[in-house]
Amino acid sequence: MSRVQACLFDLDGVIVDTAKYHYLAWRRLANELGFDFTEHDNERLKGVSRVRSLEILLEIGGVTLDAQTQAALAAKKNDWYVEMIAKMDESEVLPGARRFLAECRTAGIRTALGSASKNAMLILRNVGLVDQFDVIIDGNKTSAAKPDPEVFLLGAHALGVATAHCVVFEDAEAGVEAALRAGMRCVGIGSPQTLHRANLIISGLAEMTLDRLPME
Ligand code: BG6
Ligand code: MG
Repeated sequence: MSRVQACLFDLDGVIVDTAKYHYLAWRRLANELGFDFTEHDNERLKGVSRVRSLEILLEIGGVTLDAQTQAALAAKKNDWYVEMIAKMDESEVLPGARRFLAECRTAGIRTALGSASKNAMLILRNVGLVDQFDVIIDGNKTSAAKPDPEVFLLGAHALGVATAHCVVFEDAEAGVEAALRAGMRCVGIGSPQTLHRANLIISGLAEMTLDRLPME
């Protein structure tokens, strides 16, 4: 049995509840384009890149647009999203996240952020968590989106920890898949229906303790 040496955390939906802001911005765009976008549809966008999210959204609405228009719409959605996250403060860190990060560090477990978001630094600064991560890998540092394992492999590499000693925390199906493909164990945060492949499923970091970390 090997000791866990690093914990890698997704951001949106794990550390902060920004999934609701992403949803509001995408829904506004869908409504402008003339179709509805439900919370159920939104599950498909979790964890995937901005560009891929727009493609899925347009697929749901049955809308076809050229690349230039798509780029303009993605930028518009991001402007609305940034308007919302610019107002975030420390109170929007999800229950248990700050405590669990601190417990990991006290126990000598290294911490990394592994997020698809290009807005991760703005969010971490606003909620006061930049210092809690030894390594930050965000959407500006990756070329392949989850379920590709790149984001977590880059995180483990930067930490200098072998993948077998890493545990990932994820709320998205694509993220759980990315963690498993990276050869890491995964704690799923959310519903067992979507995250059944994770090694442990919890409803939030408030439930997490070091002794529950899944071992090899
Ligand atoms: C992920 C979210 O963390 O980041 C996705 O789960 C989002 O919903 C992706 O599309 C990209 O985020 P951003 O902030 O770069 O648009
Ligand atoms: Mg997420």
